[in-house]
Amino acid sequence: MSVERVGISFEPELLSRFDRLLSSQGYRSRSEAIRDLVRRAILESELRELKGDVVGSLTIIYNHDEGDVNNRLLHLQHQHGSEICSTIHVHLNEHMCLEVLVLRGRAEDIVHLADEIRALKGVKHGELVTTKPTIR
Ligand code: NI
Ligand code: NI
Repeated sequence: MSVERVGISFEPELLSRFDRLLSSQGYRSRSEAIRDLVRRAILESELRELKGDVVGSLTIIYNHDEGDVNNRLLHLQHQHGSEICSTIHVHLNEHMCLEVLVLRGRAEDIVHLADEIRALKGVKHGELVTTKPTIR
Protein backbone atom coordinates (compact mmCIF):
# COMPACT_ATOMS: atom_id res chain seq x y z
CA MET A 1 0.00 0.00 0.00
CA SER A 2 1.43 3.35 -0.95
CA VAL A 3 1.47 6.16 1.57
CA GLU A 4 1.69 9.88 1.19
CA ARG A 5 3.72 11.92 3.63
CA VAL A 6 2.38 15.20 4.97
CA GLY A 7 4.04 17.74 7.25
CA ILE A 8 2.08 19.13 10.19
CA SER A 9 3.09 22.14 12.26
CA PHE A 10 2.42 22.16 15.99
CA GLU A 11 2.87 24.69 18.71
CA PRO A 12 5.45 23.11 21.07
CA GLU A 13 3.07 23.01 24.03
CA LEU A 14 0.33 21.31 22.05
CA LEU A 15 2.81 18.78 20.69
CA SER A 16 4.15 17.87 24.11
CA ARG A 17 0.61 17.44 25.45
CA PHE A 18 -0.20 15.29 22.42
CA ASP A 19 2.92 13.17 23.04
CA ARG A 20 1.91 12.60 26.66
CA LEU A 21 -1.55 11.53 25.51
CA LEU A 22 -0.03 9.13 22.97
CA SER A 23 2.20 7.43 25.48
CA SER A 24 -0.64 7.10 27.99
CA GLN A 25 -2.77 5.45 25.28
CA GLY A 26 0.02 3.15 24.14
CA TYR A 27 0.68 4.61 20.71
CA ARG A 28 4.16 3.93 19.37
CA SER A 29 4.10 6.65 16.74
CA ARG A 30 2.56 10.04 16.21
CA SER A 31 1.57 9.02 12.69
CA GLU A 32 -0.62 6.17 13.90
CA ALA A 33 -2.29 8.38 16.49
CA ILE A 34 -2.98 11.11 13.95
CA ARG A 35 -4.37 8.56 11.48
CA ASP A 36 -6.75 7.35 14.21
CA LEU A 37 -7.89 10.90 14.90
CA VAL A 38 -8.53 11.41 11.20
CA ARG A 39 -10.50 8.16 10.98
CA ARG A 40 -12.57 9.18 13.98
CA ALA A 41 -13.32 12.57 12.43
CA ILE A 42 -14.42 10.90 9.19
CA LEU A 43 -16.61 8.44 11.08
CA GLU A 44 -18.13 11.25 13.10
CA SER A 45 -18.97 13.17 9.96
CA GLU A 46 -20.70 10.10 8.52
CA LEU A 47 -22.67 9.65 11.74
CA ARG A 48 -23.83 13.22 11.44
CA GLU A 49 -25.76 12.48 8.28
CA LEU A 50 -29.06 13.21 9.92
CA LYS A 51 -31.79 14.46 7.62
CA GLY A 52 -34.64 16.87 8.15
CA ASP A 53 -35.17 19.09 11.17
CA VAL A 54 -32.87 18.68 14.15
CA VAL A 55 -32.29 20.39 17.45
CA GLY A 56 -28.97 20.47 19.20
CA SER A 57 -26.23 22.39 20.86
CA LEU A 58 -22.74 23.44 19.96
CA THR A 59 -20.35 23.99 22.86
CA ILE A 60 -17.18 25.87 22.01
CA ILE A 61 -14.12 26.99 23.91
CA TYR A 62 -12.24 29.90 22.42
CA ASN A 63 -9.58 32.47 23.12
CA HIS A 64 -11.22 35.84 22.55
CA ASP A 65 -7.81 37.51 22.15
CA GLU A 66 -6.80 35.34 19.23
CA GLY A 67 -7.15 36.76 15.73
CA ASP A 68 -10.48 38.36 15.02
CA VAL A 69 -12.51 35.58 16.57
CA ASN A 70 -14.98 37.75 18.51
CA ASN A 71 -16.00 39.68 15.42
CA ARG A 72 -16.13 36.66 13.15
CA LEU A 73 -18.15 34.71 15.67
CA LEU A 74 -20.63 37.54 16.06
CA HIS A 75 -21.01 37.94 12.29
CA LEU A 76 -21.61 34.22 11.85
CA GLN A 77 -24.20 34.24 14.61
CA HIS A 78 -26.06 37.13 13.01
CA GLN A 79 -25.94 35.47 9.56
CA HIS A 80 -27.42 32.32 11.09
CA GLY A 81 -29.83 34.05 13.46
CA SER A 82 -32.74 31.87 12.39
CA GLU A 83 -30.89 28.68 13.40
CA ILE A 84 -29.62 29.96 16.76
CA CYS A 85 -32.30 29.87 19.48
CA SER A 86 -30.10 31.03 22.32
CA THR A 87 -26.50 31.38 23.42
CA ILE A 88 -24.87 31.13 26.82
CA HIS A 89 -21.52 32.79 27.33
CA VAL A 90 -19.20 32.15 30.26
CA HIS A 91 -15.87 33.99 30.72
CA LEU A 92 -13.57 31.23 31.95
CA ASN A 93 -10.51 33.33 32.66
CA GLU A 94 -8.71 36.37 31.27
CA HIS A 95 -8.63 34.93 27.73
CA MET A 96 -10.81 31.87 27.41
CA CYS A 97 -14.55 31.81 26.84
CA LEU A 98 -17.07 29.01 26.80
CA GLU A 99 -20.13 29.42 24.64
CA VAL A 100 -23.10 27.14 24.19
CA LEU A 101 -25.31 27.73 21.16
CA VAL A 102 -28.73 26.12 21.13
CA LEU A 103 -29.56 25.30 17.53
CA ARG A 104 -32.61 24.32 15.57
CA GLY A 105 -33.01 23.85 11.84
CA ARG A 106 -32.31 21.60 8.90
CA ALA A 107 -29.59 19.07 9.72
CA GLU A 108 -27.31 20.17 6.90
CA ASP A 109 -27.57 23.83 7.93
CA ILE A 110 -26.79 23.04 11.57
CA VAL A 111 -23.77 20.91 10.66
CA HIS A 112 -22.58 23.58 8.26
CA LEU A 113 -22.86 26.28 10.93
CA ALA A 114 -21.00 24.13 13.47
CA ASP A 115 -18.23 23.46 10.94
CA GLU A 116 -17.87 27.16 10.18
CA ILE A 117 -17.64 28.08 13.85
CA ARG A 118 -15.16 25.34 14.69
CA ALA A 119 -12.95 26.39 11.80
CA LEU A 120 -12.51 29.91 13.20
CA LYS A 121 -8.99 30.72 14.37
CA GLY A 122 -9.08 30.93 18.16
CA VAL A 123 -11.77 28.27 18.59
CA LYS A 124 -9.96 25.46 20.42
CA HIS A 125 -12.71 22.94 20.81
CA GLY A 126 -16.23 22.46 19.54
CA GLU A 127 -18.65 19.69 20.29
CA LEU A 128 -21.90 19.40 18.36
CA VAL A 129 -24.73 17.32 19.77
CA THR A 130 -27.84 16.89 17.65
CA THR A 131 -31.05 14.97 17.94
CA LYS A 132 -34.45 14.93 16.30
CA PRO A 133 -37.17 16.99 17.98
CA THR A 134 -39.53 14.05 17.42
CA ILE A 135 -37.29 11.34 18.86
CA ARG A 136 -39.00 8.72 21.04
NI1 NI B 1 -26.75 42.42 16.75
NI1 NI C 1 -15.90 35.64 27.47
